[in-house]
Amino acid sequence: MTESVDPLARHTDYGEIALEEGSLLPDPIAQFRVWLQEADEQGIYEPNAMVVSTIDPDGSPTIRTVLLRGVSDEGFAFYTDYTSQKGVALEQNPAVAAVFPWYSLHRQVKIRGVAEKVSVEDSDAYFSTRPRDSRVGAWASDQSQPISSRAALEDKVEQMEQKFAGVDDVPRPEKWGGFLIRPRSIEFWAGRRSRLHDRVRFVRGEHGWKPERLQP
Ligand SMILES: Cc1cc2nc3c(=O)[nH]c(=O)nc-3n(C[C@H](O)[C@H](O)[C@H](O)COP(=O)(O)O)c2cc1C
Repeated sequence: MTESVDPLARHTDYGEIALEEGSLLPDPIAQFRVWLQEADEQGIYEPNAMVVSTIDPDGSPTIRTVLLRGVSDEGFAFYTDYTSQKGVALEQNPAVAAVFPWYSLHRQVKIRGVAEKVSVEDSDAYFSTRPRDSRVGAWASDQSQPISSRAALEDKVEQMEQKFAGVDDVPRPEKWGGFLIRPRSIEFWAGRRSRLHDRVRFVRGEHGWKPERLQP
């Protein structure tokens, strides 16, 4: 491992843990769960954080971090404000990509697919697990819209606190809910020496998932 002081000039050689097709589970969702568990056990901060890219109505891409809140054979679920920039983008163009950047493990998982809204029951169920303050916050914030000041935002929160005074079970605003990313491909990346990294991409076909190795 060679390191220089300037982080822009540093060349860190990555690990020696090989990623063999045969050592991966045949089901990439199951394999993802294994890596997520390992990321958690290795102390990765917010191992369920993923960077999600969407395409705005004008065709330009944009990205942001969200937290994965559910993973199943169907796909990967996160929750947000449907009126946010990402919500509006996904409404018009469901194409989506996401990456889990587990740098200190020399691993990343990249997902491409299409997003759809989860059921209102699922959104209600998840919303009800959020701390009360976050539920009030969801009412107060028009996510991604400009606002004149922090004080103006806090005023909106105060108004919502009054609206829900004495209400423990703050309901979900209709504009807030989950998206499920249905994956079409899932790529597992493991850093190797001399930038000869391992990449195995699973592509969903008619007969299930098929792995293929990609050049680094
Ligand atoms: C670690 C982390 C986790 C986040 N999790 C979420 C999330 O689960 N849902 C969400 O709407 N925003 C989340 N955010 C905020 C988003 O990154 C983003 O600022 C917000 O959703 C507005 O995005 P948009 O304007 O592109 O729609 C998170 C940010 C960070 C840094």
